[in-house]
Amino acid sequence: MLENLPYFQKHLSDDLAKVNVVINRAVQSDVALISQIGTYIISAGGKRLRPIMTILAGKAVGYDGDELYSLAAMVEFIHTSTLLHDDVVDESELRRGRKTANNLFGNAAAVLVGDFLYTRAFQLMVGSGSMKILEVMADATNIIAEGEVMQLMNIGNIDITEAEYVQVIQYKTAKLFEAAARVGAILGGATPEQEQALKDYGMYVGTAFQIIDDVLDYSGDTEEIGKNVGDDLAEGKPTLPLIYLMHNGSQAAAEDVRHALQHADRSYFDKIHRHVVNSEALPYCIAEARKAVDKAIESLAILPDNEITQAMRGLAEQSLARVS
Ligand code: IPE
Ligand code: IPE
Ligand code: MG
Ligand code: MG
Repeated sequence: MLENLPYFQKHLSDDLAKVNVVINRAVQSDVALISQIGTYIISAGGKRLRPIMTILAGKAVGYDGDELYSLAAMVEFIHTSTLLHDDVVDESELRRGRKTANNLFGNAAAVLVGDFLYTRAFQLMVGSGSMKILEVMADATNIIAEGEVMQLMNIGNIDITEAEYVQVIQYKTAKLFEAAARVGAILGGATPEQEQALKDYGMYVGTAFQIIDDVLDYSGDTEEIGKNVGDDLAEGKPTLPLIYLMHNGSQAAAEDVRHALQHADRSYFDKIHRHVVNSEALPYCIAEARKAVDKAIESLAILPDNEITQAMRGLAEQSLARVS
């Protein structure tokens, strides 16, 4: 999704190649199943958005050393471990255009290899020698876990407010974007003001990104998103398009959504999908994501206007481009 950005073509592909070297080394284990499953999910690609955040944040404050690649790989490992766990929890069958690890290797193996990647990430961050980076990541991973549990508690919850939804997505998703940018900033010796700006940038991009991801669960194309559409509804997950319909849709739409959420079954998808696309739900969600992107871009105002901050603005915009 970033291939069209000039900065990406000029610099970031080289940086990402260096991140991949660390990733491919760190995924290895003497325990064959770990390397097998780890390589399986990592070689499937992924957009590498979080490592890109780390790299851009570090460079935005003038860092130019190799430790950035280790931290970027670390962030991708945390992300990958949450995906392995998330797909077990969500009973998802497709990820990055391939069968999920749980689907292919079983839940137990997916959970345990998720634990391996998660703990390997902590080994990588210890390498930075920074207690502050350790603290940021310890806090972020703890919040992500809270977000996933909060979301679990909201399965089938037809009374969830938009504010509660936003809190869930900020915890489960935006927190890692925030931490990814923040650790790059810390490594780069950012001033407190710069660190705050990059942290806010990450948080807002992550928020927009998850809103759009929730839109794509209705409007997306399996081929393009590499995941099955309709997973959220099948689980009874009240995401923003459905919250909108329950509050602002026709009476019939609101009733159908409540029923579908409480009975969590994929067979309701066609009906709910029709309500979603025949209402203002998607434009509303996209407008909310747009607000977050604007705030992300505003956060960068205190940083110099150069090709790195331009790339960061482009990256924020790209989180919306997925639906256009
Ligand atoms: C998936 O994240 C999980 C969400 C927060 C929606 P990504 O869409 O960044 O996953 P990959 O790494 O590109 O596969
Ligand atoms: C992703 O949650 C957030 C984490 C993995 C912590 P989702 O369940 O919404 O994301 P997808 O749709 O499976 O990628
Ligand atoms: Mg999921
Ligand atoms: Mg989930």
